[in-house]
Amino acid sequence: MKSSKLAILGGSPIRPRPFTQWPVFGKADERCLLRALRSGKWGKLNGAEVAEFERRFAAMHDCRHGIGVVNGTVSLRLGLMAAGLESGDEVIVPPYTFYSTASAVIEANGVPVFADIDLNTFNLDPAAVEAAITPRTRAIIPVHFAGQPVDMTALMKLAKKRNLTVIEDAAHAHGASFKNRPAGSLGHLGSFSFQSSKNLTSGEGGIITTNDDDLAERCRSLHNCGRIPTGAWYEHHLLAGNYRLGEFQGAVLNSQLDRLETQTKIRDRNGQYLASRIKQLPGIHPQLRPASCTRHSYHLFMLRVNGKEFGASRATVIKALQAEGIPCSGGYAISLHRQPMFLNKAFGPYLSAIRGKLDYRKTHCPNSDLICREQCIWIEQSTFLGPRADMEDIADAFEKVYENRSELAGKANG
Ligand SMILES: Cc1ncc(COP(=O)(O)O)c(C=O)c1O
Repeated sequence: MKSSKLAILGGSPIRPRPFTQWPVFGKADERCLLRALRSGKWGKLNGAEVAEFERRFAAMHDCRHGIGVVNGTVSLRLGLMAAGLESGDEVIVPPYTFYSTASAVIEANGVPVFADIDLNTFNLDPAAVEAAITPRTRAIIPVHFAGQPVDMTALMKLAKKRNLTVIEDAAHAHGASFKNRPAGSLGHLGSFSFQSSKNLTSGEGGIITTNDDDLAERCRSLHNCGRIPTGAWYEHHLLAGNYRLGEFQGAVLNSQLDRLETQTKIRDRNGQYLASRIKQLPGIHPQLRPASCTRHSYHLFMLRVNGKEFGASRATVIKALQAEGIPCSGGYAISLHRQPMFLNKAFGPYLSAIRGKLDYRKTHCPNSDLICREQCIWIEQSTFLGPRADMEDIADAFEKVYENRSELAGKANG
């Protein structure tokens, strides 16, 4: 079977059936949504769904506070504002992440400074973070990329020494844990996204988590037009906005949350199994998992393919795997600091006073560049919700492509 003709060359695919589709929903979600609809209380200010979800989600992530907001970009920005970021303050971010991790910094009038990732864990390298610190550094945003927690022991030590605020970008890390402590409770603030692709979703949405009462109070005010608990309704204390999560989203999140623990366990078990199988192949390097990662949420299963060792390029391997029925992609094609927004400093009204001094062409992050350019492969989270047999299919497809790699040369190369 494995060494039969590759599907890309006209053979039968290893996996003719689709994997688990996302989102997973049913009658329970319908009941929750109808409950919110029939309550007639459709906004967070008078409804009960978001409040209930905030409490449950925060508790699940070992936090005293959860503040539901419209998305995971706003949660980062409000976290930075709550931390007291001032115009031109620097915030260290990885170059291998979604646009929002850095755009939120600019929208908080801060300067994103990129520190490279580790080539094997794909997460911020604490040594690179330390090297990027200047007297203007005010905060760090580690991203638990793909759902694998960053080395938070090293980062928090550094942050303490330099008096920096740490905001975890946990958009991929619902239910993940570091040394048995949940993502979102490890820094001063945590930020999660509930956008459609995420491991917990209501289409759009986000939440800020924290155990710091003062930061929580500021975030609450920032997401609610600058109001304070003791103030009058039309009394506004901060530059803020209406960033409140809606009740229909809260209702869906309440029912989806019931599934999160089971789904996270399944993803983690399957992800670990797949990694153990495919790492046997020459040139295949799944995301290295340190012992400190006590639970990986596998928002993405990530691996590096070294084309020379494997005998075919990343682009060729992806095309061949896709033809075998394995949903995968190369992820980000370029590091974040190489996006036109950064090269052209298209920052709208932000950072105008210091724009002349910024030049992102000088940013040097070779690890991120290498994996973007030629090595990374992503498989999305819902693929990991099925039985072990699904993992066997993926691993068999990798083996089939490897065994037939010589036939790919020149054929699908690119
Ligand atoms: C790492 C990361 N941070 C932040 C975000 C922003 O979240 P949202 O789309 O909910 O604004 C996303 C994804 O969407 C993400 O992947």
